[in-house]
Amino acid sequence: MCGIVGYTGFQDAYEIVINGLRRLEYRGYDSAGIVLEGSDNKLEVEKTKGKVEDLVNISKQLKGTANVGMGHTRWATHGVPSDRNSHPHLSNNGKIALVHNGIIENYDTIKTMLSEKGFTFQSETDTEVLVNLIQYFMDLNPEIDFPTAVRYALNEVYGAYAITVLHEDHPGVLVVGRLGSPLAIGIGEKEYFIASDASPFVEFTKEAIYLEEGHMATISLENGVDIRTINDNSKIEPEIQELKLSLEQIEKGGYEHFMLKEIFEQPKSIHDTMRGRLIVEEGVIKMAGIWDHVEKFKNANRIIIIACGTSWHAGLIGEYLIEEYARIPVEVEYASEFRYRNPIITDKDVVIAISQSGETADTMAALKLAKERGAFIYGICNVVDSSIARITDAGSYTHAGPEIGVASTKAFTAQLTILTLIAFKLGKHNGNLGNAEFMSLIAELEAIPKKVEEVLSATHELTQDIAKNFVKATNFLYLGRGYNYPAALEGALKLKEISYIHAEGYPAAEMKHGPIALIDENMPIVIIAPKKGHYDKIVSNVQEIKARKGKVIAVVNKGDRQVSEMADYVIEIPETSECFSPIIASVPLQLLAYYIAVYRGANVDQPRNLAKSVTVE
Ligand code: AGP
Ligand code: GLU
Repeated sequence: MCGIVGYTGFQDAYEIVINGLRRLEYRGYDSAGIVLEGSDNKLEVEKTKGKVEDLVNISKQLKGTANVGMGHTRWATHGVPSDRNSHPHLSNNGKIALVHNGIIENYDTIKTMLSEKGFTFQSETDTEVLVNLIQYFMDLNPEIDFPTAVRYALNEVYGAYAITVLHEDHPGVLVVGRLGSPLAIGIGEKEYFIASDASPFVEFTKEAIYLEEGHMATISLENGVDIRTINDNSKIEPEIQELKLSLEQIEKGGYEHFMLKEIFEQPKSIHDTMRGRLIVEEGVIKMAGIWDHVEKFKNANRIIIIACGTSWHAGLIGEYLIEEYARIPVEVEYASEFRYRNPIITDKDVVIAISQSGETADTMAALKLAKERGAFIYGICNVVDSSIARITDAGSYTHAGPEIGVASTKAFTAQLTILTLIAFKLGKHNGNLGNAEFMSLIAELEAIPKKVEEVLSATHELTQDIAKNFVKATNFLYLGRGYNYPAALEGALKLKEISYIHAEGYPAAEMKHGPIALIDENMPIVIIAPKKGHYDKIVSNVQEIKARKGKVIAVVNKGDRQVSEMADYVIEIPETSECFSPIIASVPLQLLAYYIAVYRGANVDQPRNLAKSVTVE
């Protein structure tokens, strides 16, 4: 969601900012803009609705003109995507430029106050209010320095923000602040970078400071990085971290899209998730996060899993896993619902938050609530040092590597892998999972990356062939039972996110309670029907569909006969214990969604209206 890039140093700021924005494109956006400090320190702004390439087309003249600047990709919340609503926004006196990620919730009150003082507004955004509030404080007290004015303004607003501000009269100085939206500062040799994540500057430096919640920083070549708390201006010692991210990791590596690359990375990413944790020869699962707090889990009244989107689907599978193997009651909730329904939480509850980005605002807010009410909070995140990872009491990283495609794929299977490890570990510890079964399950888990590799090579072409038949489809149903019901939900989400075909997932048995009314010869139905997983019941569901002439795309185990004979298209996957089948079955469904979207000419990596990390409520 929205990207911010800033730079002060000796290189061409235009190149750094534009390339940085390109790196952040994966986050999803609708407009782009840039501001540079020109030779006479005048602020030069170019901005437009559309893509970074549209911005390049209108801003080439700025190339090579400055060593200080910043840029933004906007994901509209207040006001339609338009040239005028794009960032950067300038203050009324034209001296201050600001880019913002997030929402200023009380913008309306401030706008009224500023309007009464004579300020005017060019855009419909909440952001423009903030830049003018900074000018207001500077006008009010000309003695005040620029960072202090920013701090005063930030103390007046509530909501969520990551901001970067430039002032014409303070050349070479970037002021940044964050509350709820991420911001990283890259420390180079005689240069500083600012970005929503480290990807725009990883090729220049491996040292970064992740700005903490409620902190701001003033950055200049002369004085380095000065970090303060926004509320009371206390000085904070910067904590410089070594970046683990490599440039290669965030580039496409020969694949047409990040999404396809990430689908194909799954044998490795699942393996990486288990690395150092699953030691089959010793018959152990080593997970310090769980082990250090195992009594909390063992004595928990219940585990509540909170998440959004794909991560919520992983949570549903987590419920099946933990209840089956550890026999601890689990509830799974959408973070946004949990947060606002005044849930009953006690210090005997364990709350697990699942989030690829670790920045999802709804999940973050739900976690804070659970923490306030005394629950032990555990995080399953992919992005190291993300906000959620930092506020949890303990957690496990999925270690799937950066996921750039907006549609989550490898992060999902990594989340399932972690949840499987947790369920087995807890089950073994509390005695619900006997040693023999534990040993056989972990041996099978170790072989999952190999099976995913087999599925990728066996279904890559096949899914392309099948996809060609559904380019014009307008609806899809996805059905599964047990562990594969959430896998059906996830299959449907993947398709709708990237192809814009309406798709719904259902528990297969629920079909007869409503969705069956939709079935005719035009309705494609993807049905996940592995041998272990209520197979006979699924056979009946397929019969019900065929009796109504629905088009069945069946995901079955190798050698399957009954469902395959009835299905119009058959995708074979290797047989596994039921608990592993969502990992294996999800892979061809990701490919199917991917190819249908590609054949429809959709922008697979940056689907319309979607953001990679949803940092607003
Ligand atoms: C996944 O394909 C989606 N783009 C989306 O549903 C995502 O899973 C959701 O926004 C949660 O994100 P998180 O895992 O980063 O918290
Ligand atoms: N709320 C701001 C706007 O609508 C910023 C949105 C963003 O995060 O890109 O302009």
